[in-house]
Amino acid sequence: MTEVATMRAVVVYESMYGNTRQVADAIGAGLQSCFEVRVVPVSEAEPAVLADADLVVVGGPTHIHGMSRASTRKAAVEAADKPASPLKVEPDAPGPGLRDWFDSLGHYPVKAAAFDTRMNGPAALTGRASKGVFRLLRAHGFDLVAEPESFLVTKQDRLEPNETSRAHAWGARLAASIAPSAASGAHL
Ligand SMILES: Cc1cc2nc3c(=O)[nH]c(=O)nc-3n(C[C@H](O)[C@H](O)[C@H](O)COP(=O)(O)O)c2cc1C
Repeated sequence: MTEVATMRAVVVYESMYGNTRQVADAIGAGLQSCFEVRVVPVSEAEPAVLADADLVVVGGPTHIHGMSRASTRKAAVEAADKPASPLKVEPDAPGPGLRDWFDSLGHYPVKAAAFDTRMNGPAALTGRASKGVFRLLRAHGFDLVAEPESFLVTKQDRLEPNETSRAHAWGARLAASIAPSAASGAHL
């Protein structure tokens, strides 16, 4: 009997307040219909993690209309540190962001997709980090298999209702588009 190789997906995320982490987890759960999935923060996404991936999904928060920078991550931590703030920062929030990760990343001829979190509003006004992630993935040789996607947060920096369900469905659709036969046989 021929053995079917397991397909592997890695979801790499950057997150200050946990919203992008929740979206990454939900996308990962959606991908599980076809893939063995790892969801990792950017601080843990060393080359060995990507080594045998068939699909890499990368996302982060939108800061000042695009991908975060060291200065915006510092501002995010300071905002959460204010006594009146209900926000809590992720353990590795002050650490390197996706731009730093891309700087040290090699060439990967692997399927990929980009997502972000951003404020709820017209993208022309809010900006979208996923467009920058998409461009950097392409520059590193990845084969982009989906349009960049945004998941929305409220003014209070909480995910809008149903965004984790939408992220799950996006992950499942992504999986099905890459491995349609595995998806049709999967118990969803
Ligand atoms: C310094 C800073 C700048 C931000 N700039 C934008 C922006 O330009 N557009 C936008 O839609 N959201 C902006 N936001 C909101 C973030 O997109 C939101 O905090 C993020 O999606 C939450 O994800 P996280 O919890 O994973 O960090 C900004 C947030 C911070 C802290």
